[in-house]
Amino acid sequence: MSRKNVIAANWKMNMTPSETASFLDSFLKTFPEPTAVEIVLAPPFVSLPKAAELMAGQSAVGLSAQNMSHEASGAFTGEINAAMLKEVGCQYVILGHSERRSLYGENDVVINKKVHATLAAGLVPILCIGESLEERDGGQLEFVLSQQLEGSLAGIDAAQMPGIIIAYEPVWAIGTGRTATPDQAQETQCYVRSVLERLFGGEVAAAVRIQYGGSVKPGNAAELISQPDIDGFLVGGASLDPASFADIVKAGA
Ligand code: 13P
Repeated sequence: MSRKNVIAANWKMNMTPSETASFLDSFLKTFPEPTAVEIVLAPPFVSLPKAAELMAGQSAVGLSAQNMSHEASGAFTGEINAAMLKEVGCQYVILGHSERRSLYGENDVVINKKVHATLAAGLVPILCIGESLEERDGGQLEFVLSQQLEGSLAGIDAAQMPGIIIAYEPVWAIGTGRTATPDQAQETQCYVRSVLERLFGGEVAAAVRIQYGGSVKPGNAAELISQPDIDGFLVGGASLDPASFADIVKAGA
């Protein structure tokens, strides 16, 4: 089963609308046509309309939000729902990023509700999972990842799974400059796929794309993407510069 690599830029709390415009001015010239990889940009909420405006009429790059409420509407101050994201042109939503889990108390129960809401709205969830260094060093790696997958994917049908992207991001590799080695990432992502196989069957597990995230740079992207179970990247810091993100995309193609 061949899986199309998907390379996503998670800008986190960076890039105002005007900074988004100057990034896209440069980046879209590099990729005027669709490439062999799926490219996704995830600006902060307020920069989504500017990004959508500049991306209109091209199909090389897709648009993602970084979070979403599972609620449909109502008295939820500060939250953003699926309909709002769709109206501004999003096709994807990053869910359960480790920063959301550790800084904003999101757990697998709430992330699971968000996965369901995202799919119901026709958006593609990019579901993040990953272990801390203590968990890895303490022999908890497989337990933590299988708990996160079982919890956040509860009630999801096998038929829905190919429409979900999993992002494996070891917490100790995020923003630290300490990348998982290609072997470490491959071994772990092979394990993630084995959990998907247990939950949804082999055919589905073979179809689901699993990204790696954590200090991906132009210099390490080619070796990471050559691993059989790495189907793309979720890139933080190195995605803020159009040339550096373009180099990562080219490595993934
Ligand atoms: P860095 O690429 O900055 O390590 O961030 C990874 C990440 O968290 C992407 O979601």
